[in-house]
Amino acid sequence: MIDLRSDTVTKPTPAMLAAMTAAEVGDEQYLEDPTVNELQRRMAELLGHEAALFLPTATMANQIALRTQTKPGSMLLAEERTHVLVYEWGGPAIHSGLVMKGVKAEAGRVTPEHIAAEDTWDLGPGGIVVLENTHRSSGGRIWPLDEFHATVDAARDRGLAVHLDGARLFNASVGAGIEPVAWARRADSVTICFSKGLGCPLGAVLAGSAELIERAWQGKYLFGGAMRQAGVVAAAAIYALEHHVARLADDHARARRLADALGLDSETNFVAIPDPGDGEARARRQGVLLGDLRPGWLRAVTHLGVTDDDIDRAIELIPEALGVHA
Ligand SMILES: Cc1ncc(COP(=O)(O)O)c(C=O)c1O
Repeated sequence: MIDLRSDTVTKPTPAMLAAMTAAEVGDEQYLEDPTVNELQRRMAELLGHEAALFLPTATMANQIALRTQTKPGSMLLAEERTHVLVYEWGGPAIHSGLVMKGVKAEAGRVTPEHIAAEDTWDLGPGGIVVLENTHRSSGGRIWPLDEFHATVDAARDRGLAVHLDGARLFNASVGAGIEPVAWARRADSVTICFSKGLGCPLGAVLAGSAELIERAWQGKYLFGGAMRQAGVVAAAAIYALEHHVARLADDHARARRLADALGLDSETNFVAIPDPGDGEARARRQGVLLGDLRPGWLRAVTHLGVTDDDIDRAIELIPEALGVHA
């Protein structure tokens, strides 16, 4: 089987496992885990923020970011297929009492016009805009920097906080040839996920001001994300920062080769494929696993476990299964 469902299916490499085994550890909640502390220090610096907090998942990082910066009853504004709105089980409403509003937006990009169109009263004091880069449901699209800055400025003008769900920000960075900090420092808080293209078994960070991260500890305890000898996992993240960032370009090249062969487009490691209805089952019967992207669309996602040969075979098998041809 060629597994193109998601970049989350990767397993740690032997070298990553060796780094995990060798990690120096301590009690994270006493701030005594040197590997967690080092990862947090590096991530804060890399993202242009004062501090960062290590967490088990990007979902938890997003939810803590929302809870730390908003007031119950105020609005969370985002593009309608944004991860926090669709795939986090109503978390913003449940954990933070937010009214969730999704807007239709090209390539997942909320514009200054979307923000200007909202009534100040609806946004409330304590509202937030969530921007996702790369944007999962539009097929791993990269948010152009000037458009991103314009949206952030519009949010600030309305007194809104800005959270960047950068679960795949390194894909955006490698795809655009721009350092992650260029997007990250403009947002009040940023989520980064290590268990996607970076190939770790788990782990995420939330970055922001020192004051924000201090308050985020409440959420880390509340949601059960305060850990102990978590350096074992943080070591995988440090290994990934050193060895798995530049190689994302290989994933992108493979996705582009597949996309070109199918007459489709790809900006990073996703290929959005029109679903004839039972496309997932048909592809599976041919030996290719595809994932869901959004209603009517499937995705093929390249990652650490996908080789050039896999792509050669997928280029033959997917058109046979789905009838998609260049
Ligand atoms: C854009 C985006 N944000 C957040 C998440 C949540 O990540 P996790 O599975 O680590 O909670 C995902 C997971 O697929 C995602 O695609």
